[in-house]
Amino acid sequence: MNDLHGKTAVITGAASGIGLALAHRFGTAGMSLVLADVEAGPLATAASELEAAGFTVATFEIDVREMDQIVALEAFAKERFGNIHLLCNNAGVGSGGPVTGLDDIEHWKWTIDVNLWGVIYGCKAFLPGMIEHGEPAHIVNTASMAGLASAPMMGPYNVSKYGVVALSETLSKEMQLSGSAVGVSVLCPAFVQTSIASSRRNLPAELQQEADTSAEPSPMEKMVQQLIDNGLPTTVVADAVHDAVVDNAFWILTHDETKPAVTERARQIVEGENPPTTGFG
Ligand SMILES: NC(=O)c1ccc[n+]([C@@H]2O[C@H](COP(=O)([O-])OP(=O)(O)OC[C@H]3O[C@@H](n4cnc5c(N)ncnc54)[C@H](O)[C@@H]3O)[C@@H](O)[C@H]2O)c1
Repeated sequence: MNDLHGKTAVITGAASGIGLALAHRFGTAGMSLVLADVEAGPLATAASELEAAGFTVATFEIDVREMDQIVALEAFAKERFGNIHLLCNNAGVGSGGPVTGLDDIEHWKWTIDVNLWGVIYGCKAFLPGMIEHGEPAHIVNTASMAGLASAPMMGPYNVSKYGVVALSETLSKEMQLSGSAVGVSVLCPAFVQTSIASSRRNLPAELQQEADTSAEPSPMEKMVQQLIDNGLPTTVVADAVHDAVVDNAFWILTHDETKPAVTERARQIVEGENPPTTGFG
């Protein structure tokens, strides 16, 4: 999709981090923006910031775990701006935890509901309109390097992100087979400087009560925070996404240093070697 000017982009998780950077990048390219997020305050702040930069913006408060709300987002965006050309299924939460034990099942469900079901709903709700209008269009699904290599103690996140990669590959093949004008990309970054380490702020009310949000971060949480603080700036990621949309490139791997983990995993699979204890670091 090489002519973005005057087209419309819908971005979930647009109030913060990568989503906000995508809004800046696609606004700069001349697109009208529909920003969707579960956090009303940051969403309003993001919209003011983007409007002050001269972009055309509409906002929609949404919980991507709810299919009806995604269907309503699609209708809202279409009513405001007409045909939708770019959908960034980007809203997500970070959540670790071991595979063993039953105490954190609701956390697993929450992570998979936001990170995977949110993306499935997005694709299913927006694709019919994007296919029907027939103009060049594109879907970008935010996965992670955690969708290509599995670090221990990250079970719910890994499962959700492998799902996003599988969904995106399947969709890309289906769009090509049907001769549709909808391109597909999957974003697989390693660490990026965002607020993902404080995803507990977005826990649903019933889980908020159980979680001790005032508790000192665990050593694991501190380590993750440090990796994120030293991660890529969001602007670099947004530029990579923009270029992939323009070039119709499927894979968006923003961190060269993590690529060997993907080849190494493929080698282990075909050579029948058991998984090592490492992830993609
Ligand atoms: N930051 C990283 O290191 C990193 C690495 C790989 C992938 N990612 C992915 O990037 C995406 C964006 O995350 P980020 O790093 O910018 O974090 P972030 O916390 O800064 O932004 C995530 C946004 O998603 C929103 N959100 C959370 N739950 C939601 C829900 N149920 N409905 C609607 N919106 C919701 C949040 O309010 C927030 O605005 C996520 O999918 C994340 O998994 C991040």
